[in-house]
Amino acid sequence: MKKMGKIYGVGVGPGAVDLLSVRADKLVREAKYIAFFRKAGRAGHARQIASNLLSKDVIELAMEYPITTEIPLSDKRYSEVLSEFYKKYSNKIISLSQTGIDLVILCEGDPFFYGSFMHIYSRVRDKCPVEVVPAITGMSAAWTATDTPITWGDDILTVLMGTLDKTTLENQLQDTNAAIIMKIGHNLPKIKKALEGTGRFYDAFIVEYAAMDRQTVQRLSDYNAENAPYFSIIILHGQGRRP
Ligand SMILES: C[S@@+](CC[C@H](N)C(=O)[O-])C[C@H]1O[C@@H](n2cnc3c(N)ncnc32)[C@H](O)[C@@H]1O
Repeated sequence: MKKMGKIYGVGVGPGAVDLLSVRADKLVREAKYIAFFRKAGRAGHARQIASNLLSKDVIELAMEYPITTEIPLSDKRYSEVLSEFYKKYSNKIISLSQTGIDLVILCEGDPFFYGSFMHIYSRVRDKCPVEVVPAITGMSAAWTATDTPITWGDDILTVLMGTLDKTTLENQLQDTNAAIIMKIGHNLPKIKKALEGTGRFYDAFIVEYAAMDRQTVQRLSDYNAENAPYFSIIILHGQGRRP
């Protein structure tokens, strides 16, 4: 029987190619087959980060999301459509592995941190060999961009998704020292209200495109846009114990 190929979930970090780990760099450079997620009509963020490392003969599998924000998260069809999508590509990936192909799946940031790769991983992990390569997350690049440490001493850090409802955001913001809010987009007005409601609005920073060429860092109170781009993160720094 043919030896099964290995599936690598490789984190390519937040946006700068020199922030890849040595292990990720080697796997991406040596890859004969790659896969990556992308929005219809886009290049794919992880693919873009890795583009200068790829061999010119590499064979590419673009996994194009059937939907992104067209159907609300709360709609049952959202989950059904995405579940079909992940099933289709998981089956494809399993069959590539069965033919002995090693496949590098490029993942933005860290593969196990709110990433699409996890939905493939959970479907293929018992059917073919998989190795995951960790990476620097977007939030790590974002707090570094503010030139201010995120947590001191015994500070509690809470990571929140902007998709949460306002009450949950407020409750969590009340109970934490430092906070990261991701997936901002059109959730920005709701997030601002939750920060205002907990008296933390004027301490918040917003970082767009952390570690990318167009990175920006602003106080949220100076940020006038109605919505924020997909690649943006809100940061509340901890102020904890220090000697
Ligand atoms: C689906 S999550 C993916 C997280 C990713 N796996 C990681 O380790 O950072 C996407 C969200 O991460 C945040 N994000 C990831 N990378 C970012 C970056 N370089 N700059 C700003 N935000 C980023 C944004 O809030 C975005 O909406």
